[in-house]
Amino acid sequence: MSPRFQPDDKLYKQRNTLKVEYVPDNIVGRDNEIEEYEAALQPVINGEYPDNIFIYGKTGVGKTAVTNFLLNELEESAEHFDVDISVITVNCDGLSTSYQAAISLVNKLRSPENHIAETGHPQSKVYRLLWDELNTLSGTVIVVLDEIDHLTDDTFLYQITRADNNGYIDNIQLGLIGISNDSTFREQLDAKVQSSLCETEISFPPYGADELQKVLEQRAKIAFHPEALDEGVIPLCAALGRQDGGDARRAITLLRKAGDLARTENAETVTTNHVERAQEKLEAQQSMDIMRNLTEHEQLTLYALTTLAAEEATPARSRVVYQRYKKLCEFRGRDPRTARRMRSFLSDFEILNLTVSRKEHLGQDGGTYREHELTRDIATVVDALQTPISEFGAHQSIIEYLPDSGEEFSTLKD
Ligand SMILES: Nc1ncnc2c1ncn2[C@@H]1O[C@H](COP(=O)(O)OP(=O)(O)OP(=O)(O)O)[C@@H](O)[C@H]1O
Ligand SMILES: [Mg+2]
Repeated sequence: MSPRFQPDDKLYKQRNTLKVEYVPDNIVGRDNEIEEYEAALQPVINGEYPDNIFIYGKTGVGKTAVTNFLLNELEESAEHFDVDISVITVNCDGLSTSYQAAISLVNKLRSPENHIAETGHPQSKVYRLLWDELNTLSGTVIVVLDEIDHLTDDTFLYQITRADNNGYIDNIQLGLIGISNDSTFREQLDAKVQSSLCETEISFPPYGADELQKVLEQRAKIAFHPEALDEGVIPLCAALGRQDGGDARRAITLLRKAGDLARTENAETVTTNHVERAQEKLEAQQSMDIMRNLTEHEQLTLYALTTLAAEEATPARSRVVYQRYKKLCEFRGRDPRTARRMRSFLSDFEILNLTVSRKEHLGQDGGTYREHELTRDIATVVDALQTPISEFGAHQSIIEYLPDSGEEFSTLKD
């Protein structure tokens, strides 16, 4: 018998280059941003004190990729011109407090055998250790704080932006690069921190379809064999990627999912049909995550609309959805939110692409009302709403969509 798993590389040359972890050698489609960024880093090569730089833009727009690329180039140029620089990167994802960020930076500056514990030090000691470590360096030190918006307090940023003024560091010229995908982060900072950290700001806008196409073409060239992709595949991934917020990470993932689908089906090439189906799957997965993360009353509102959909009573008016929602709440003796609040949930669902609604006009007296319906199929929504359904009871209309005859759920009439 031949082995169940067989190596197979008809389509892919290097599938790994489509994974999120892969770091591209070259950046395409970010010329303006790179130009601004380069100008902001130029003082480093001149041996001048660098400005702090604040980079912001939505997820997947190349903030981290461009930063890594330019700092590599900077290090190479510095070596060439014999300029003394050190670059230290801290990803603040997973760190929430200033205390954790400071310890993480200390440990980045120390060799592994000298790492300090992540807890149990007085705060003042942690900062003293940090200044000591920084003072062992010389020349220009660039500290990159990626995903800086994960920090919930700005003590660390306050300390580090003022370290030079306060005389804590002497030997070095310190430059900070903060990267954020939360546009409100900057406004929340203490005014002094803000003016210091954001000396130079560079915004990364979402990618347009042309730029995504360049990114995808570059990646596809190394990931797939020549001729593996049908002609329309990359333009379609780029167009869909543009619609989904101009996020390169998502566009690359879409291409990989389309490639995987083609490979599973033993297709000769990846076609636009593979892309369309991969997109449907990605969207379903995304809305699944969104639905699972809604608050309880949002989920109950969606549940109410789902029962109406199962009764073929959608599009349904907000008023009707509210009646059903109230019933679901009352079944477990819970207080419903106001009708107005529930209507705001319904409009949020539309933004999240879970529902669509239409405004309807009431005859001559000119009143209007809204009608809502699901964009996802009932089984998918029921699957995502397992928690509220088991807690609040399974409405009779959705019993047939439950995984196992619904026995473990109580039945809720009307
Ligand atoms: N211009 C580009 N050229 C080549 N690859 C790119 C480009 N922009 C983004 N990518 C790729 O897309 C993915 C997402 O980019 P990146 O990680 O830089 O996004 P980000 O802006 O840092 O997002 P987040 O805010 O979520 O951290 C990465 O895999 C990256 O390699
Ligand atoms: Mg990033």
